Formats: sequence, structure tokens, C-alpha cells
Amino acid sequence: MPRTMWRMRALTWQGRENVQVQDVPDPVIEEPTDAIVEVTSTAICGSDLHLYGVLAPYLTPGDVLGHEFMGVVKEVGSDIRSLRVGDRVVVPFNISCGSCWMCSRGLFAQCETTQNYAQGKGASLFGYTSMYGGVPGGQAEYVRVPHANFGPLAVPEGPPDERYLYLSDILPTAWQGVVFADVPRDGSLLVLGAGPVGLMAVSAARYRGVEQVMCVDLVPERLAAATARGATAIDLGGVENVLDAVLDLTAGRGADGVLDAVGMEAHGNPVAEKLIAGAARLPKALARKAIASAGIDRLAALHLAMECVRRGGTVSVSGVYGGAADPMPLMDMFDKGITIRMGQCHVRRWTDELLGIVQEAGDRLGVETLATHRVPLGQAADMYKTFRDKEDGCIKVVLNP
Ligand SMILES: NC(=O)c1ccc[n+]([C@@H]2O[C@H](COP(=O)([O-])OP(=O)(O)OC[C@H]3O[C@@H](n4cnc5c(N)ncnc54)[C@H](O)[C@@H]3O)[C@@H](O)[C@H]2O)c1
Ligand SMILES: [Zn+2]
Ligand SMILES: [Zn+2]
Repeated sequence: MPRTMWRMRALTWQGRENVQVQDVPDPVIEEPTDAIVEVTSTAICGSDLHLYGVLAPYLTPGDVLGHEFMGVVKEVGSDIRSLRVGDRVVVPFNISCGSCWMCSRGLFAQCETTQNYAQGKGASLFGYTSMYGGVPGGQAEYVRVPHANFGPLAVPEGPPDERYLYLSDILPTAWQGVVFADVPRDGSLLVLGAGPVGLMAVSAARYRGVEQVMCVDLVPERLAAATARGATAIDLGGVENVLDAVLDLTAGRGADGVLDAVGMEAHGNPVAEKLIAGAARLPKALARKAIASAGIDRLAALHLAMECVRRGGTVSVSGVYGGAADPMPLMDMFDKGITIRMGQCHVRRWTDELLGIVQEAGDRLGVETLATHRVPLGQAADMYKTFRDKEDGCIKVVLNP
């Protein structure tokens, strides 16, 4: 049978809050710099939840999702020099050429070879809508990996997949978020959100020697995980006022750096929640317009970040935001002299260093203890819901195709 006739299983988007594992055409080599990777582990990310909900207008039924994956190289294009069939690899979620003006400055999320000029968006991403290249994702048995001489990171045989899997996204994302927050060792970092990114950020900050790490969330088991990773947990639902709690812990000044690891679907603003849900249900063209020209974000976390950062401090935003006209407290941001850094992670910029760290003894970043659910790919649809609703103690889901 010709290669293109094969069918593989993949998690596909079918509609708002509707994903299904289906048979789809097997990926094939399209460019000489492509590789085909057989996926052994792939994770569901908080970013996938935006696709499940609010970013629906940018998806088409049948789109294959997933941008956190690793596996074994099955096939390589004729120009592939850095990989061989059989290599065990982790694949960064952004697709970058490695040699353009942006890539040569380490700005891999802005690669000019894969940038989506027509959409006015940065580098292409796996499984992340028509805005980011419409590239089929990795919650699948096989994936086509473009620019495979640069992206995939070869990892040693031996340790379990989870030692390396998060190098595809959440570990470098958290690391970059902490670096951008620019907190000195004897300083204080406030992490908003104790999801997978927030928890990795707590561990990364502690690993980097930051003395005081605080972490805000409202889900008990996530707060407990943050405490176990070395943070002082602050329960959004339990304290009277988060700002007061942070001031108490920081000699009345506020945190030197705040990392927003929540993003646009923050809890805390019921009016915005209704507006977002409404926008995502509009007909596609209208919804895209609403998102591109209006506010769709729930800004509770970002506003909290601006409040809790000390004067002259830095707010680092890893959480994804999507609206265009959301109100921000500019007077306070200006008066406090806040520095803001944000954006998609430049994954490959950090992965060589992080590969060395995850290989150290003792799993100090806690990569092997993050996943709470490990299931076959066939159960992915149920797991999207479990992860979104934070049911069953769910913190991170790993799927095995
Ligand atoms: N910049 C990047 O490259 C990049 C990469 C990966 C993920 N992300 C983004 O990072 C964010 C977090 O991802 P995740 O996988 O950890 O997702 P997640 O949804 O599991 O975690 C978000 C956490 O924030 C908590 N939360 C909600 N509202 C809050 C509030 N007002 N204050 C404090 N905490 C609140 C939730 O309870 C949850 O535990 C998402 O927006 C995701 O899209 C960005
Ligand atoms: Zn992700
Ligand atoms: Zn590039």
C-alpha cells in the first residue's frame, strides 16, 4: 500500500468544547527538511484549553491539536543532516528555522522563515490554529516536523519520557518566565497560577536560587503542589485580599517580580467570562472580528500582577492573552515604573541548558512528578474535560498514542 494510504489516530478539534480521536491521513515528508516522528508521549497544555474554548473561531473541524510531544524519528527528508531514523527526540512547540535574523538572536518564537505574515502573527506552532500556520499537531501517532534540522532535540535512551517531555514547552516556558521576571537570588517572586507552567516556574525559581517564591491559585491540590515545590502558597479563594498577603510577606513593598502563569481565562470576573463565551459562539467571521478588535480577556490575573509587583519591579507574562482592546491600569503601571516582558517561549533558546539540568540526579525540577494522569490517546477527549474542569485532582495529562 502506498505510504499516503495509511491512516493514523489523532486528536481532532470538531467544534467548541468538542474534540475527538479519529482516523486521519498519515503525515508524509513534504519538504527535504521535514522529519516524521512517531509519538511516544504527548501532553495536554493549558494553551490547548484556549483552543477548546475561546479561540474556536480560528479552528476548522478536523484540525489535529497538540504541541507538546516527543518520540522516535521514523523518516527523514533528503536534506536532514542532524537526525537519524531511530533517534529519540523532543520537539519544541514553535517551528523555527534556526538561522534567520530572529533565530540568530535567539528569538525563535519570531522566526522570520515561519512567521505568519498574512495573519500578523509570529512563528508557526504545532497544532495551534490558522493564526499560527495551521500545522497539524502532536496529539497523534505520527507528526510531520518541518525544519527538523533545527527544532528536535535528541535525548538519551534510558530515562522515562516524562524526564524529557516538558522540554517541548512548559519547562522552557516556565524558565523563560522566571528569567524575564529578573528576580535576584535574595529577592521575591510571585507566581500567579499553579497549573503546570506555574508549578514548573516555582521549581525553576527555587533551582535558580530565588529565596522567596510565592504562588497564588484557588485549587487546593495545585496549591499543595506549589508548597511541595518550595513556594509559600496563597489561596485566592481563602485570603481576604491577595495584595495584602503579598505585602505582608515582602516588608510592605510587593514582589520584586511577578510571573503571570494564568492567561486570558483567569477566574475572577464573571462579566468578562460571559463576554468571552459569547464571542466564541458568534459566527466565525464576526467572532474573529470581535476578538481582533475588542477585549476578550479576563484580566484578573494580569491586573493582580500589576498590583502585587513592587515599584520598579518586573511583570513577566507567560499566560496567553488574545484580545486587542482590554483596559489596563496604565496610570499605576506608569507611576510604579513597571517593566513588562511577555510572549511565547523561545523554546530552543533554553533547551540545551535545561537538558543538562533534567539529567542531573534527584529530579530537582520535579518533571517526573508533575503528571497526575497518564492515559492512552484514545481517552484524550475525556481528558480535555477533566483537565479543564480540574476534576479528579488533574494537574497534567500525558497521552500515550
Ligand atoms: N508563553 C508561552 O509560550 C506559553 C507556553 C505554555 C503555556 N502558556 C500559557 O500559560 C498559561 C498556564 O498554562 P497551564 O498549562 O499551567 O494552564 P492551567 O490552565 O492548568 O493553569 C492555570 C492556573 O491558573 C489558575 N487561576 C485561574 N485564575 C486565576 C487567578 N485569577 N489568579 C491566580 N490563579 C488563577 C487556575 O486555577 C489554574 O491552576 C496558559 O495561559 C497557557 O496558555 C504559555
Ligand atoms: Zn503547551
Ligand atoms: Zn528562523
